[in-house]
Amino acid sequence: MSIPLRALDRAVEIVNLKKTFDGKDFVVNGMNLAIPKGSLTVIIGFSGTGKSVLIKHMLGLHRPTSGSLKVLGQEISNMSTEDLVRMRCRFGVLFQGAALFDDMTVLENVCFPLQEHRREWSLKKITEIAEQKLRLVGLDSKHYHKMPNQISGGMQKRTGLARALALDPEIIFYDEPTTGLDPILTEMVDNLILNTHQSRKGMTSVVVSHDLEAAFRIGDYIAMLDSGRCILFGTPEEFFKTDIELVRRFVNKGMKHA
Ligand SMILES: Nc1ncnc2c1ncn2[C@@H]1O[C@H](COP(=O)(O)OP(=O)(O)O)[C@@H](O)[C@H]1O
Ligand SMILES: [Mg+2]
Repeated sequence: MSIPLRALDRAVEIVNLKKTFDGKDFVVNGMNLAIPKGSLTVIIGFSGTGKSVLIKHMLGLHRPTSGSLKVLGQEISNMSTEDLVRMRCRFGVLFQGAALFDDMTVLENVCFPLQEHRREWSLKKITEIAEQKLRLVGLDSKHYHKMPNQISGGMQKRTGLARALALDPEIIFYDEPTTGLDPILTEMVDNLILNTHQSRKGMTSVVVSHDLEAAFRIGDYIAMLDSGRCILFGTPEEFFKTDIELVRRFVNKGMKHA
């Protein structure tokens, strides 16, 4: 596995991580992975290979059975709940559904994390920042006072992303952000992820995706998981050139359907 030597600064560093839920099967089974700070890294792999479980470890939602997992230089695996809460203020998260609060407007949804974690700020300042994030993700101001069920799926994604960006995260995690979307919306969301990444200098983006074409298009690096391990980490070019049979099968299959 080639970890770039220049990647001295690592946003995520995982060493020999293992996780079993039942004491028998290891869903994460000796994972080593280093994600360079400031990169957009796409995690790919067949269904059930532990991608979501891995992301949940990075967020501190699962505790590893053994091994080390550092995010932004901090060991997450044995962190207290209190420290985790503080740590998560430095994270942005967007999962498959936008998970908006149904009973809040678009703007209120984006204000929410600011009201929770920037208590010293005035409502005026919070609103300004929230509007700035909504502009960043390309949502027109005429939608700010609508409820989530009054806007399209694409706009809901934009709102979810604006909310994820509210606290100016140092690292943002996406788990299957385009699963279930039509091809046009998929491309829109992929571009949104890429543009957001490029507009926030130094931010690390970690994207779990089943969409190989997108991985090659937007990823600085790709990590392929299999059986709870990372079997290849590298640039898109390295993925095209690899001799690893399983990676070749995945790439050929994915690109044919793309
Ligand atoms: N909370 C859990 N308890 C027990 N098993 C789980 C749990 N979450 C995931 N798994 C199992 O871990 C494996 C990997 O799941 P997951 O990370 O969701 O795969 P994917 O790569 O498709 O995201 C699957 O076999 C799944 O059934
Ligand atoms: Mg998953």
